[in-house]
Amino acid sequence: MIQVRRIGHATFETPDLDKAVDYYAAVNGLSLIGRGDQTAYLASNTGLLTIALQRADAARCARLTFEVAPDSDLAAVQKDLAAEGVPSERHSDPAPGVTSSLLLTDPNGTGVELYAKRGNLSVKPVAAGVGPLKLGHVAFFTPDPDKVGKFYQRFLGFRVSDWIEDFFLFMRCNADHHAVNFLRGEKPRMHHIAFELKDAAHIVTSCDVLAKNKIPIVWGPIRLGPGHNVATFHREHDGQMVEFYTELDQMKDEALGYYDPRPWHRDAPQRPKVWKLVDDPLWGPPPPPNFL
Ligand SMILES: [Fe+2]
Repeated sequence: MIQVRRIGHATFETPDLDKAVDYYAAVNGLSLIGRGDQTAYLASNTGLLTIALQRADAARCARLTFEVAPDSDLAAVQKDLAAEGVPSERHSDPAPGVTSSLLLTDPNGTGVELYAKRGNLSVKPVAAGVGPLKLGHVAFFTPDPDKVGKFYQRFLGFRVSDWIEDFFLFMRCNADHHAVNFLRGEKPRMHHIAFELKDAAHIVTSCDVLAKNKIPIVWGPIRLGPGHNVATFHREHDGQMVEFYTELDQMKDEALGYYDPRPWHRDAPQRPKVWKLVDDPLWGPPPPPNFL
């Protein structure tokens, strides 16, 4: 089955497209590369399409895209998925820089769009806002994290990176500790979207940008347990949770099976495991009641 190589961009539906563009351009620091009546596309200063916005009645994360190897045959993948009972459909020119894709739906109801070739985007770097390196991961509530995780393992080639007890699953598709997370909750919905920053100094800068824009930090700065990322969390215009992070654990060699050693690891070597809730975060305040 297909092996996803990296997370691409996330598609958000939003009732207020203007406000959403304002947040992602002026606060988050992405560059607006396309804008219509119903849609907008924003890219990182590093040239990656990062966020697609679509006007809708309610705010939600509707879709994630993932890049597969450039020589992948999406028609063959579609056939293989159909043989396993997973329907999918082909799309042409679904987003800037993407000429062809394959769209399926995960068991949580989130669209999963695969594309094999990414064209160069002409991105005029912006000086405003935080300016993340890339979209890093997206976390979703789901009634059954194990079931959704098994779908990502079997059909998309993800690996289990860590669990917190039996309710919070972290999964990777490349060296990054996680690109998707699944958290047990009553109804399927996004919990947070996370953007990678350069370093801890960039985290400080991001806190200053949030303060200037009168956006409170909901949780952090902290060093989390699973993934060991230094992170903060805030809410954007629609109330969706956004994480800025740096220093995420890296599984540089799958055959070795442990994360590249860091002085803040408690295990030596640090391998995928089941964490206890009390071990998260490693430092910093505990999550506030309004975090989940
Ligand atoms: Fe996160």
